[in-house]
Amino acid sequence: MVYKTLPDVKKEEILDLSMKYVNPGKTQEWIDREINIVMGKREGYYFWDMDGRKLLDIHLNGGVFNLGHRNPEVIQAMIDATQDFDIGNHHFASTGRALLANELNKLTPEGLCYSVFSSGGGEAVEVAIKSARYATQRRKVVSIKGCYHGHTGYALAAGDSMYKAPFRGEGDADCFEQVPLNDLDAMEKVLKKEDVAAVIIESILATYGFMIPEPGYLAGVKKLCEKYGALYIADEVQTGLMRTGKMWSIEHEGFIPDMIVTAKGLGGGIYPISATIMNEKAGKWLREIGRLHCSTTGGSEIGCMVAMKVLEITNRESTVNTILKNSARMKSFADYIRDKTDGFLADYTHRGVIMGLKFDVEDAGKTITKPLFDAGVWAHNSRLNPSFLQFKLGLLADDSYVDELFEKMEDGIERARKLR
Ligand SMILES: Cc1ncc(COP(=O)(O)O)c(C=O)c1O
Repeated sequence: MVYKTLPDVKKEEILDLSMKYVNPGKTQEWIDREINIVMGKREGYYFWDMDGRKLLDIHLNGGVFNLGHRNPEVIQAMIDATQDFDIGNHHFASTGRALLANELNKLTPEGLCYSVFSSGGGEAVEVAIKSARYATQRRKVVSIKGCYHGHTGYALAAGDSMYKAPFRGEGDADCFEQVPLNDLDAMEKVLKKEDVAAVIIESILATYGFMIPEPGYLAGVKKLCEKYGALYIADEVQTGLMRTGKMWSIEHEGFIPDMIVTAKGLGGGIYPISATIMNEKAGKWLREIGRLHCSTTGGSEIGCMVAMKVLEITNRESTVNTILKNSARMKSFADYIRDKTDGFLADYTHRGVIMGLKFDVEDAGKTITKPLFDAGVWAHNSRLNPSFLQFKLGLLADDSYVDELFEKMEDGIERARKLR
């Protein structure tokens, strides 16, 4: 039995319905790649395909499952919340939003006082860009080549052309400019025109292979923002919530951004919620025209209660200790595989329990993902830098899980090497 509540559903039926009524292109692509997963049972850092295959999850849906699939404490927090709350009404002050914003205020660097809630990461990026535009009365947004901030309007416009060109999004180019990572001169050239509202940067570029900016680069960008009157938005959708060993990856960089965007894992894999956390400057509109932006379901009170539990678990000493221990284990594992495979694993990026594994292949999606899947590991390549595989270990992964994972990854990488 795959589901307790839907015992009669068959995988073939779901694939068929998905082809007919959901997304034929996407469904077919995974069928062609022989990775036609339909998630059945899920528990901890495992999930089972509906055909019964058990998979170790190191994609975690970008960090949605930082605390595992169906974390029992998170589920209980949601059940408890339904005793008193529902979505609430976005027009009023709300207990859920007030308490969660208070927690986020305590867990973010000094000065980041306001939280605006949405349902997903893209929406939270929209809020950040709108806030910067109001605060500066400028329109332009600068981002990094190879970045990804979501598929919604401004978020899409700020991102790589791979995702926006097919939807005719290139016409927004006059307001959205991209510069290469680690090039402060290129950034200054754009900012010095003094028409830029915001610079938005993922603190580690997830979809670009978890590329970590060179030391001092992000702090240099912040200084340029201050000099030329732009606001700095730290997109921490994949890198926040303790994934790097600190609450926010930006804390490794020694400066405070004007805004932090968080999503994915904030809802504990159970209830979608995201937040744009901002300082007084960025939050000007909240004081002056506070009713001119809202999201009906963003900041649902049940979602807020779930997120508070997520923050509590994430900030436990035991969680942080597990992350630090596993971070060291991941590094030893990557070094071991790099030596053993004689350059097949060519390089890696690493901070906390985030890793980008660079293989000596053109497209890890085509050549590494499938052998890993055959070995029992679900991992995804970096779509904008395809020789990289994303490796996201769960925050709470215990020793026996990590042992099993490394064994299976070694097996999968060996299979991939033989196929070369
Ligand atoms: C860095 C980053 N920003 C924003 C987003 C958009 O989040 P969502 O898919 O919840 O809209 C994503 C999603 O993958 C992301 O990785």
